[in-house]
Amino acid sequence: MSIMQRLKEATRKQHEELEQAVDLMSETLSIEDYKSKLLKFYRFYSFIEPRLASFEWDLFGYDFPKRRKLPLLLKDLQSLDIMNEAKKLEGWEGLPDLNGSIGKAFGCLYVLEGANLGGQVISRHLKLRLGLDESNGAAFFSGYGKETATAWKEFGIILENFASEYQNDEEIISGANETFEGFARCFRETYVLDLKI
Ligand code: HEM
Repeated sequence: MSIMQRLKEATRKQHEELEQAVDLMSETLSIEDYKSKLLKFYRFYSFIEPRLASFEWDLFGYDFPKRRKLPLLLKDLQSLDIMNEAKKLEGWEGLPDLNGSIGKAFGCLYVLEGANLGGQVISRHLKLRLGLDESNGAAFFSGYGKETATAWKEFGIILENFASEYQNDEEIISGANETFEGFARCFRETYVLDLKI
């Protein structure tokens, strides 16, 4: 089985659970719900992206600066006027501890890149339900937009190449499992947003 197939199998249950915890597809989703969930995404990405940035992705043909999601999140926080709330969430210490392991970091990337697939479904819902798009608060979920399928395919090739050299699928898989765990923890930890609206 390829590493991409193995990862999908090994994280299927965690994905299902996270999808429920994230709960962004509700028909009754309000703008307040959306803001508090977006803040949780920010809490996670502001923790994980700086850690991922310390790896030499160029060596593997992965364009990390181009694929970062924090700039999109910051744009949304600004559009929705919740930047001050977001600042209070920085410094959250969750999983995963990548331990300087490039294998684990690739497993982590699998989760973050995969999240863009769900993002396409979510962004359609946000547009219909709340009238949001990349210009007014849903840039993060719009992600790569029309390029999503291509970006996912390219990432798959990069990861397959890496895994065949690295010869340690277990470590990559444990990086993905830990990332899903960290994400779930980030969502379980409540954050009461005082929106004053
Ligand atoms: C409401 C939230 C979510 C929905 C509705 C959702 C939905 C989806 C959908 C439709 C796919 C594509 C499945 C396919 O084409 O085979 C997908 C794939 C994926 N999603 Fe999610 N997702 C959600 C949240 C997340 C989150 C928060 C993460 C990670 C933090 C995530 C990680 C992944 C991964 C890694 C894949 C790739 C699976 C594979 O290997 O093919 N998803 N998701």
